[in-house]
Amino acid sequence: MRFPFMRRDHAILELEEQDCGAIAELHAEGFGRPWSTEEFESLLTQDTVFGFTAREIGNPRIGLLGFVLARLAADEGEILTVAVARSHRGQGLGRGLMDAVLRKLHGERAEELFLEVDETNAAAIALYKRLGFNEVARRPGYYEHEGRHRSDAIVMRRELRRAKPA
Ligand SMILES: CC(C)(COP(=O)(O)OP(=O)(O)OC[C@H]1O[C@@H](n2cnc3c(N)ncnc32)[C@H](O)[C@@H]1OP(=O)(O)O)[C@@H](O)C(=O)NCCC(=O)NCCS
Repeated sequence: MRFPFMRRDHAILELEEQDCGAIAELHAEGFGRPWSTEEFESLLTQDTVFGFTAREIGNPRIGLLGFVLARLAADEGEILTVAVARSHRGQGLGRGLMDAVLRKLHGERAEELFLEVDETNAAAIALYKRLGFNEVARRPGYYEHEGRHRSDAIVMRRELRRAKPA
């Protein structure tokens, strides 16, 4: 297993197919509409899809602490989903996972990275702004909240390199 990026006592590792059950559980903790293990497996078998997990070093009994899933197609990256275990938020893991995606996309010479975020998700929006993402569009009323109003999806973009080589 490769350790592309490490932070304090955590390791950021490449996401593997065997992680799909654990990431489905983490996803259910972070989102109202969870994705199944099978949905993650079918995404991860696509050539364009990749991801990273966060784990505690030296403590294999502790499960995954976070993960990110992304896609790269035709110079354009997209964050499909990212989540950190509630018990381990605010410790830099979300940032570490996003940094791992940015490093990989830089290595692949991708042009730009997009994502969509609920306008009410202050933690995620703060993380993305800190990483240099800017709002480029909105999908009004895209997210439905049980018993509450609908909220917009904010489309955010981060440029990965300024100019193509001649
Ligand atoms: C969004 C999420 C992945 C952030 O993960 P995290 O590990 O807690 O984030 P980090 O500790 O790496 O924080 C990185 C930066 O994000 C911002 N941030 C994170 N949590 C924040 C919060 N609750 N309030 C304000 N800013 C926050 C800060 O700018 C922080 O940088 P700083 O500590 O240097 O100020 C996590 O809250 C999560 O899993 N949420 C549920 C799932 C989700 O909403 N995913 C995103 C969907 S688009």
